[in-house]
Amino acid sequence: MKKGMFIVVDGIDGSGKSEIIKMLHNYLFSRHKKYRILTTREPTNGKYGKLIRQMLRKEKNPESSSRKLMGLFIKDRKEHLKSTIEPFLKMSNKHELNIVLCDRYYYSTIAFQGAQGLNIKDMIQKSKQFRKPDAAFILDVEPSAALERIEYRQKEKFEQLEFMKKIRQNFLKMPKLVDDDIKIIDASMPLKRVFESIKKELDKMLG
Ligand SMILES: Nc1ncnc2c1ncn2[C@@H]1O[C@H](COP(=O)(O)OP(=O)(O)OP(=O)(O)O)[C@@H](O)[C@H]1O
Ligand SMILES: [Mg+2]
Repeated sequence: MKKGMFIVVDGIDGSGKSEIIKMLHNYLFSRHKKYRILTTREPTNGKYGKLIRQMLRKEKNPESSSRKLMGLFIKDRKEHLKSTIEPFLKMSNKHELNIVLCDRYYYSTIAFQGAQGLNIKDMIQKSKQFRKPDAAFILDVEPSAALERIEYRQKEKFEQLEFMKKIRQNFLKMPKLVDDDIKIIDASMPLKRVFESIKKELDKMLG
């Protein structure tokens, strides 16, 4: 049996992933004394993750570098699982339940690089080498609303309305495409309500 609990939050830029993860972290930490929570993100700050971030900042054309990005995301994910996620989950025992909250995972690679034109079936095949999350929540919101939320930030490679619409459609198809426990969450509501709907699902799982 796989130890620990691995939870992923994914979705388009500005959908609220990072805010929701902070709220989930706080909630789970106080929910039970036996829970230990690790919050982490992709891309990581490792050597591949750094290269990815650099490309996302510098490149302006959302169509470019699809293969290169996919390759880097896969390497980054391998390293992330091996160095951070798996060791932490393995430390779960009778007295402690270790829970990983991960901001983005292979759903993002499938949705983003799929929007760049790479073959989605191939990428799903490649995703099978990685540990399946115990639960995945995809935050869904209109790209125009998401862009408004992140208006104050410097725009990255993929943060353009038309491109985000394609990414969103890929995310919406994810529960049908990938054989994982994926829930699409309406993230157009106020954060508190988005949190409540995920909390309800987690409470069911954790008993
Ligand atoms: N449901 C919501 N209602 C209103 N504002 C929200 C909601 N969710 C997030 N926001 C706001 O939108 C902004 C972006 O949220 P956040 O950084 O959590 O998104 P993200 O999905 O992590 O984006 P990125 O992928 O770019 O990191 C923040 O200022 C946040 O407070
Ligand atoms: Mg974020």
